[in-house]
Amino acid sequence: MADKLWAGRFEKSTDTTVNDFHASLPFDCRMFEQDIRGSIAHARMLASIGVLTPEDARAIEVGLTAIAEDIRDGRLTFDNGAEDIHMFIESELTRRIGDAGKRLHTGRSRNDQVALDLRLYVRDHAAGIRSGMVELCAVLLDRAEEHLDTVMPGYTHLQRAQPITFAHHLMAYVEMVRRDIGRLDDTLRRMDVLPLGSGALAGTPYPLDRRMVARELGFAEITHNSLDGVADRDYAVELASCLALFMVHLSRFSEEIVLWSSQEFRFVELDDAFSTGSSIMPQKKNPDVAELTRGKSGRAIGGLVTLLTMLKGLPLAYNKDLQEDKEAVFDLLDTVSMCLPAFTGMVRTLRVREDKMRAAAMSGFTNATDLADYLVGRGLPFRDAHEVCGRLVRHCELTGQSLEELSLETLREACDLFENDVYNVIQVDACVRRRSLPGGPAPEAVRESIRQAREALGI
Ligand code: ARG
Repeated sequence: MADKLWAGRFEKSTDTTVNDFHASLPFDCRMFEQDIRGSIAHARMLASIGVLTPEDARAIEVGLTAIAEDIRDGRLTFDNGAEDIHMFIESELTRRIGDAGKRLHTGRSRNDQVALDLRLYVRDHAAGIRSGMVELCAVLLDRAEEHLDTVMPGYTHLQRAQPITFAHHLMAYVEMVRRDIGRLDDTLRRMDVLPLGSGALAGTPYPLDRRMVARELGFAEITHNSLDGVADRDYAVELASCLALFMVHLSRFSEEIVLWSSQEFRFVELDDAFSTGSSIMPQKKNPDVAELTRGKSGRAIGGLVTLLTMLKGLPLAYNKDLQEDKEAVFDLLDTVSMCLPAFTGMVRTLRVREDKMRAAAMSGFTNATDLADYLVGRGLPFRDAHEVCGRLVRHCELTGQSLEELSLETLREACDLFENDVYNVIQVDACVRRRSLPGGPAPEAVRESIRQAREALGI
């Protein structure tokens, strides 16, 4: 095992159980690109202020670039016994270039270094997730355009409530994902701040050019307080919170897809490529993608809770507890990155059973509110109209009829304001068409929502 870079003040070497316990290299090794990018920017800046000679800075840059290539190509593996990625790279650099490697850490601490690396890592990986979210919206919008006239029941309490369209239902999810994208953008904007220069906690006496490093690494700002610079993980919490909420949205949608694809509903049929069979029951076609997405939302929520709990009792500034941030953040990023393409593909290939949706909308008295509204239009107070229609529904339940099957005579027995035109009014397509306020299910209103969403998302 290589000597520890902090071994100077210790008489004994660390117990092997402690070595394994506190090492983060097994999981933080995935930040090697970011660690090296940060170190190169730091070295260039140290040279620009005269703390490093141009030769040393050059040797550091060449050495680090070679290390990055060797790791990428599998020539260098993470097995030199180092504690974490920062020490792994620094000791490998020193092994390769000698004393210049030992000068790299001037004016820097692993505390501000790790705060930088994780920000860079999140920024690098959030971009792919963001475009996956936009892609999901694009698929939802395409599918909504196909189904502007596909009538289905809308539900409250999972009881048929009022007729809507499948397009309208899909657009509800577009709204959720648009908010998710907005939250992710907010998070990225707020975390666009360079922590390097915070040192271990109290800054550093070297006249570091923090703005130069910020420019080099593409940060808009520098942190304003060195304690906060190393202790802050708000960006991890914000990221986790917006990804957990996104997963909750996918989970709600998943639950609907599980229900809709059941024999009891049969509103949709999953494409063979996006469903799975049973090892024992030959007839089964299971909605595993939806179920696993729903299941994985649990670990996303777990990641958020891990981060909040990790932070809540921490005194300023750095504490080793903060090392626990990375696995939670990585797992969230991985989980969402895995769910998105499978989920989007499942929605893209979903076969929609328009006949079943319409049939469901036509039973279950989803037009009862419209029947009451008809009477209101004829001067009856809404509460009285509600009562009349409630009685008619009860009557239908006894006779096994739907409201539109009742004779005018029966309707007039309940209330003499009914006329022949009521039958057009309570036809489900008419019920949908009348709800044409902005945000409503009428095809023209949904078409407008689609247009707005496409414009806002640039798709
Ligand atoms: N591996 C550590 C982490 O992830 C790096 C920072 C270590 N700093 C320290 N003072 N022990 O948090």
